[in-house]
Amino acid sequence: MPNYNQNKNHSSAMRKATQAIRTQAKRSEFQEHAVPLYLTSSYVFEDAEEMRAKFANEIEGPIYSRYSNPNVSEFIDKLALLEEAESGWATASGMSAVFTTFAGLLNAGEHIVACKSVFGSTHKLFTEILPKWHISHTYVPYNDYEGFEKAIQNNTKLLYIETPSNPGLDILDLEKLAAICKRHEILFVVDNCFATPIIQQPIRFGADIVIHSATKYIDGQGRTLGGAILGRSEIIAKIAEFARHSGPCISPFNAWVLSKSIETLAMRMEYHSNNALFIAQQLKNHSATKNVKHPFLNCHPEFELAQKQMRMGGGIVTFEVNGGLAAGKQFLDNLKLFSLSANLGDTRSIATHPASTTHAKLQPEERASVGISDGLIRLSIGLEDKLDIWEDILQALDMLPDSY
Ligand SMILES: Cc1ncc(COP(=O)(O)O)c(C=O)c1O
Repeated sequence: MPNYNQNKNHSSAMRKATQAIRTQAKRSEFQEHAVPLYLTSSYVFEDAEEMRAKFANEIEGPIYSRYSNPNVSEFIDKLALLEEAESGWATASGMSAVFTTFAGLLNAGEHIVACKSVFGSTHKLFTEILPKWHISHTYVPYNDYEGFEKAIQNNTKLLYIETPSNPGLDILDLEKLAAICKRHEILFVVDNCFATPIIQQPIRFGADIVIHSATKYIDGQGRTLGGAILGRSEIIAKIAEFARHSGPCISPFNAWVLSKSIETLAMRMEYHSNNALFIAQQLKNHSATKNVKHPFLNCHPEFELAQKQMRMGGGIVTFEVNGGLAAGKQFLDNLKLFSLSANLGDTRSIATHPASTTHAKLQPEERASVGISDGLIRLSIGLEDKLDIWEDILQALDMLPDSY
């Protein structure tokens, strides 16, 4: 990973969050404070010998923007610092980070053990796309640690989880799973999208690879798609080899946006988490709701574990309304402040109804097996005033007919 940090006061004793804010691509002759956008597809060389040496990896420096770009390197350097990873690779979206990890590390005939509670498109990769290359998987329920170990076969290469999971907010024990992976010499891959490194650093608990959809909290303002893969240098080198030649690269513009966003991530995550816990507490006390979930709400089934491995609870709250599909849709229609949108992790609060949208194609029993009931609502709590957020939810609940 090239070190672009050039802040005069930088010292390795500085806290990671400060280092991440002060990490910046080398300043140009104009001495700009904020980094410029390097909108260039390729780079020039002083002479043929420099060109040869850069292609041979004997000296560092950009060659072509499918391989590297100063904005992309700055973004991934900042994120690697926060995740305490040796190295990283940025991708065009969260899903391209997930796919690039598998494509870079797995061979035909190999096997993945995965938690059943994963994001819908990741589920599609496991069930429909990876089988095209004879890569198989075994799903295990999120709290069956014996099951995770038993599912490991001779050809298993990696264990894949999300914690907290989308949308069920299941929390998995990072330390326990890392120990299982170590015992069986397989890689432990964690999608850290819901927590971000501000809340949880899976590498500290023994994860080998951390994946992000930077589209969510890392951007945090609903503007760009982006993804990232972080881990040890030798693992990232294998992933980079695949990515360089297959081209799932992030655009310099998106990396420029995301790099700047990282500088406000810590304060945003704290505000999201405080707002979300307040909303979860209010929802828990309301008679029209049940199964309210937030990792730091003390009735969450894995509350103790969340307290152990997360610094805050994050910005997502789920709950159920009585009345199933019809009531879920009506609750969304009753909302006035919330946006109805497929995204999450935005400054603006967003509501979704998984049973009628992202998980509509599954049978009710299949939805139930991953914790999605017909009345489940997922709220991404934004940075608006928490009282305005609660008043909107309250009026939307009050408008539901008593017959539900
Ligand atoms: C946990 C998780 N992983 C991956 C993704 C995919 O990210 P992207 O939409 O950036 O491809 C999402 C998107 O919602 C997600 O929630």
